[in-house]
Amino acid sequence: MDSTATVTVDLDRPGPTISRHVYGHFAEHLGRGIYDGFWVGEDSPVPNVGGIRLDVVEALRELRIPNLRWPGGCFADRYHWTSGIGPREDRPKLINTQWGGTSETNAFGTHEFMELCELLGADAYVSGNLGSGTVQEMADWIEYLTGAGETPMAELRRANGREEPWDVQFWGLGNEPWGCGGNLRAGAYADLARQFGTFCESGGKVPLYRVAAGADGFDVAWTKTLMEVVADVATHPFSATPWEAVSVHYYTIGGSWKAKGSATGFDAAEYWSTIAAAQGVEQLLSSHAAVMDVYDPEERFGMVLDEWGTWWDVEPGTHPGHLFQQNTIRDAMVAAWHFDVFQRFAGRLRMANIAQTVNVLQAMLLTDPDGGEMVRTPTFHVFEMNSPHQDGTSLPTHVVGPVRDADAAHAAGIPTVSASASVKDGVLHCSLTNVDLDAPLVIEVDVRGGSVVEPHGRLLTAARPDAHNRPGETDAVSPRPLTGLDVTPTGLRVTLPPHSFATITAQVV
Ligand code: AHR
Repeated sequence: MDSTATVTVDLDRPGPTISRHVYGHFAEHLGRGIYDGFWVGEDSPVPNVGGIRLDVVEALRELRIPNLRWPGGCFADRYHWTSGIGPREDRPKLINTQWGGTSETNAFGTHEFMELCELLGADAYVSGNLGSGTVQEMADWIEYLTGAGETPMAELRRANGREEPWDVQFWGLGNEPWGCGGNLRAGAYADLARQFGTFCESGGKVPLYRVAAGADGFDVAWTKTLMEVVADVATHPFSATPWEAVSVHYYTIGGSWKAKGSATGFDAAEYWSTIAAAQGVEQLLSSHAAVMDVYDPEERFGMVLDEWGTWWDVEPGTHPGHLFQQNTIRDAMVAAWHFDVFQRFAGRLRMANIAQTVNVLQAMLLTDPDGGEMVRTPTFHVFEMNSPHQDGTSLPTHVVGPVRDADAAHAAGIPTVSASASVKDGVLHCSLTNVDLDAPLVIEVDVRGGSVVEPHGRLLTAARPDAHNRPGETDAVSPRPLTGLDVTPTGLRVTLPPHSFATITAQVV
């Protein structure tokens, strides 16, 4: 007999809005993420607009990508923005000391990034250099980007071909300062970020949403130190808060940092340890949220998960510093589980950014250096299928379902079902995931406080959990219509195959 689960969706208890920015992205100067991923240059045979590849832009527009974080990551605290402006032939050629010691031509800089955001229809999230830059350098960059007056930096921007200032919404105060961003202790970083944040003044109408760089994993003491600054500033009548949000990073590592395992060649034990690791994001967010709640019960300050995703050993034959990895149904399960967690934190979590968008870590798109077809990964499809949740009203969703038996590594067992739901413009959107490796699952969706009609859905799965797309086989994993979706007296019933993700849309009556 098939396993069963019940998912209860409370239509009559609407929760907070799900910020579209939790579907955000991240692109670093790392491996083939920027060069070859987004940027091919104007003379490339690859179709491009001003050097930016069109196939990548068109695919990402399908995701309604809300924001893009750039230029790092660890690279951000080594990046001096003036290297990436002006005529390209005059820009300095540098070495990317952080990622593989490869050449950094600076062909892709501030103008190229902002043009990319405009093409994508995405908000810019710029990571400022706090680790090796100065307060003046950061303030100048902001003036260059957003200044409308006749100031030196705004005039320099105009001289470089851009008359109007750009809109920049999000600003990062450094990255991983406890590690690659300066090896700082929490108090030292908090003081620096307080100083830098004070001078991050947008020339535009909307103030910057500044993000203080957060903890290493579960280091809640770091978050506490940052929240103490916020509490301290509140006691000074003439001080303003130096940031609006605190970040944290969480990578899903199926193995260990030294031996992460292959993206495609994995056994059942590695599959399950990956699922368990992905589920850890919930505990991570709740531990940091609990600390923030102490200082900010009204949730005025946001939490930002500005790096998340799977991290495997690089593909054989590729540069170890370039973090290029394949992407399978297992990665799709990880992404789907994360989004359900994000929706449960809709009040506090204002933004999340998958690492990274093209050719690096858990990418949406893989481009072929030999000119073959671009590939949409299974993770791309999860983002696309879930996009109707963007800016929807979250609905409390309660899951009762099977739990994989406990073993030595996972004492509490591993839940195998996840779900989330939202409503927008009278339409219910529901996401369902069955991560079980072998067992199909019958799910009863119990809709309370209303009824739904005309349901239809899509399903993402494959015969094997390591199924993936590649040039020549770009649709091995892609969504198909969800069959066997029935309306019941209490809601909906559907059977999900093993390792599958489904989205359902229905009219609320
Ligand atoms: O995403 C790759 C790297 O992981 C980022 O540069 C860094 O912030 C994190 O450690």
